[in-house]
Amino acid sequence: MNPLDIRALRLGLKYTQARLGLWVGVHASSVGRWERGRHRPRARHIDRLRELQQHAQSETPGEAETDPVLRRRETASDRGPAKRNAAKRNVAKRNAAKRNELKRSTAKQIATIRAALSARATSASTVEHGDRWELHHGDLFDVVPTLPPAHFDALIVDLPYSSGGLHIGTRQQTTHRKYQGARIQHRRQDFDGDQRDQLSFRTWATDVLRLSYRTLKRSAVFATFIDWRQLAPMILAVQCAGFTLRGIAVWDKSEAARPTPGRFRAQCEYILWGSKGELPGARGVPVLPGVLRSVVRASDKHHLTGKPTAVMRWLAQFVTPGGKILDPCAGSGTTGVGALLEGRAFVGVEQDGHYARVAAARLRAAEQGRVMEAGGRRGSSAGAVEGLQGEAAGGGR
Ligand SMILES: C[S@@+](CC[C@H](N)C(=O)[O-])C[C@H]1O[C@@H](n2cnc3c(N)ncnc32)[C@H](O)[C@@H]1O
Repeated sequence: MNPLDIRALRLGLKYTQARLGLWVGVHASSVGRWERGRHRPRARHIDRLRELQQHAQSETPGEAETDPVLRRRETASDRGPAKRNAAKRNVAKRNAAKRNELKRSTAKQIATIRAALSARATSASTVEHGDRWELHHGDLFDVVPTLPPAHFDALIVDLPYSSGGLHIGTRQQTTHRKYQGARIQHRRQDFDGDQRDQLSFRTWATDVLRLSYRTLKRSAVFATFIDWRQLAPMILAVQCAGFTLRGIAVWDKSEAARPTPGRFRAQCEYILWGSKGELPGARGVPVLPGVLRSVVRASDKHHLTGKPTAVMRWLAQFVTPGGKILDPCAGSGTTGVGALLEGRAFVGVEQDGHYARVAAARLRAAEQGRVMEAGGRRGSSAGAVEGLQGEAAGGGR
């Protein structure tokens, strides 16, 4: 092949010297030298050129462009600036398409997870409500994630203490064995979630408080009950969950609480309190007593470890007037009763069917200003709970 043939072949194919060099297996500058007659192609290069010549004669130039060998061997650096820009645009286009595809598939995954979560929440829980209250019967770990963020003004909660003994054997007993004396007239229904050891309790309590934290407004307040045995892990859990712990209030159960000769009477339970972040002074809340003395009365005790209505009214007063309170372990709904009687709104969660029914009934009555007595009796008007004296029903726990 003479220099003119090589040049004619290349121009006929509309190839650059670089492209022809790629086909043949030499650098572009060698093709330039062949075309100028400076060098002669070697035998194997002439074979490749002939092959290409045959190819060009049998195919249209457009088809030659699609030659897979040629396409595979071509690199961006061999293309002219226009082609390089086009290649860059193609890469950018491909990346944008990939990003969009990723966005679409992530959005799809999130929608699937959301649908699964809400299906789980609606199938696993039922809701009863009034004008100012809502009671979910279900597991708090299903329900609380479905509640809106930054929504509540307070978390007031009485978690299962997993108490009732210092050692795991005593803690693992049923709740009525742990919390009801031997000489009881009416055995109250047991509840689950009260058998954890101290480390598990701290972890679990942190999870509950952390989950609830998300649903609280900035500067919302919290109050959470505990006894002396679980005071230390609860102090940790509250802070691990992100709350600012600001103090401990005391519920004095009076001399009606368990006496043990030679010891101090176990007459107090504690309320850790504080806020989510800063706590402004002017919230429309007066100075509250740091200790509340309130006897547990049988007619006011609807749960194995139920709190007196008077105690929950006292705590509701810690919340901005008209505010909304969350209790994810509502039991018989005493937090809600206190909230409604004090002009606050309430959302509760309770996993136990029996206690969820009791809570809903009490909340319906409280919304009308009535306090239901234990055992299903209609009970008195709200004012009657103000009196803190009455029949003692043993300690809360
Ligand atoms: C200490 S009691 C609350 C008593 C309540 N303060 C009252 O006066 O009736 C704790 C309640 O939390 C409920 N509980 C425990 N684990 C729960 C969970 N995962 N979801 C919802 N409720 C739960 C128990 O069934 C129990 O009734």
